[in-house]
Amino acid sequence: MKVAIVGAGYVGLVSGACFAELGNNVICVDNDDKKVSSLKRLKIPIYEPGLEELIKKNVRLGKLSFTTNVAQAVRSSTVVFIAVGTPPKENGEADLTGIENVARSIARAMNSYRLIVEKSTVPVETGQWVKHTIEINKKKGIPFDVASNPEFLREGSAIGDFFNPDRIVIGVESEKAESVLRELYSGIDAKILVTDIKSAELIKHASNSFLALKISFINAVSKICEMAGADVERVAEGMGLDRRIGRSFLNAGIGFGGFCLPKDLDAFINISKKLGYSFELLEAVKKVNDLQKEDFIRKIESNLWNIKDKTIAVLGLAFKPDTDDMRFAPSIDIINTLQKHGAKIRVFDPKAMGRARKIFKGVTFCRDVYEAARSSDCLIVITEWSEFKQIDFKKLKKLLKHPLIVDGRNIYDPQKLKRLGFKYISIGR
Ligand code: UDX
Repeated sequence: MKVAIVGAGYVGLVSGACFAELGNNVICVDNDDKKVSSLKRLKIPIYEPGLEELIKKNVRLGKLSFTTNVAQAVRSSTVVFIAVGTPPKENGEADLTGIENVARSIARAMNSYRLIVEKSTVPVETGQWVKHTIEINKKKGIPFDVASNPEFLREGSAIGDFFNPDRIVIGVESEKAESVLRELYSGIDAKILVTDIKSAELIKHASNSFLALKISFINAVSKICEMAGADVERVAEGMGLDRRIGRSFLNAGIGFGGFCLPKDLDAFINISKKLGYSFELLEAVKKVNDLQKEDFIRKIESNLWNIKDKTIAVLGLAFKPDTDDMRFAPSIDIINTLQKHGAKIRVFDPKAMGRARKIFKGVTFCRDVYEAARSSDCLIVITEWSEFKQIDFKKLKKLLKHPLIVDGRNIYDPQKLKRLGFKYISIGR
């Protein structure tokens, strides 16, 4: 099948490379000249495990290409995915101007039937607006369909998620649109759920908000564990054994970040309000998430006494492991607050240092964990990279001024660290 994907960000690039791998001819479009020309030179703008290899392979096979020209891509494809960003506005609403502009450009370029598919995460009812925009901008008599096909890819495991999804959701209004999308996904062995467009749009927002709710729930439970002297890890394990609950997304920590969960939660609260429902439950999810970061700072403060002039080694900056993504990473608020309190910060992250240099001022960027720890008063863990789990604690203890670790991700065994002579503070245990 001939597929165009407009928007070569995380979602567009991963989906494009994977559709090409499935045997389709894919053309990815982006209005960022620089990005497109570096993609043409096989320089990949993001770090996502396996993506570079997949892109290189499919470009060499002639199944994947890049352009800045929407019209050219639309004319050469039957299915056109919209995968441009829907960044949050000041009030938390999703900014849909990118979607509207792309819909207009697609409409103007169409010369015969096209299926236009929303892939970006959008509030319910966006499909109607996309349909309307295409209707009023296309030449008379050209047929088209609009569909919704939300992505559920997690950064860091996006390619595995694409080929092995829990479900594929397609929201359609015609049999033709359904059959085109079924054929496109025929190489993937997964349940395909077919719904109307609005329900498909809602499935995405409701799923991400529910994941955020699970995380905030366990974070709230972690507070009770600390007060009562229980262990949140054991509580999560016990809860998770109930198949109706499940163990995943019950990891207590410093709260969720990234470009999806916080943004989708805000957008869902906003669209609910617009439709006439005040989603108080999700407001509470947000509040717990903010408190979790504040509480982490309090933990550092109560173990250092004064933060001013203390040196703090920070392990991990990306919003989660296996990605270089710094968007809405909890590290940003935490480091900014520590700096405001007068701390000197030394940081290390295996992949996000390049992006972090553009965000943080007055921070010392270190070569590895040990260089970050050198002469620091305290070491804090913000991202649970697996290499942090295998550090040499004896070496670390010699390098730190004081053997104090405040772990925001519960990656170490409290008993073991105690035995090794560390003062170890973690979350909910
Ligand atoms: C999320 C959804 O999982 C995915 O389906 C959707 O398509 C995009 O948004 P992503 O943002 O890549 O994916 O990350 P995810 O793995 O969901 O983690 C989100 C945040 O929650 C991270 O900051 C992570 O550290 C945090 N988290 C996750 C926890 O604090 N505890 C958990 O138990 C799980």
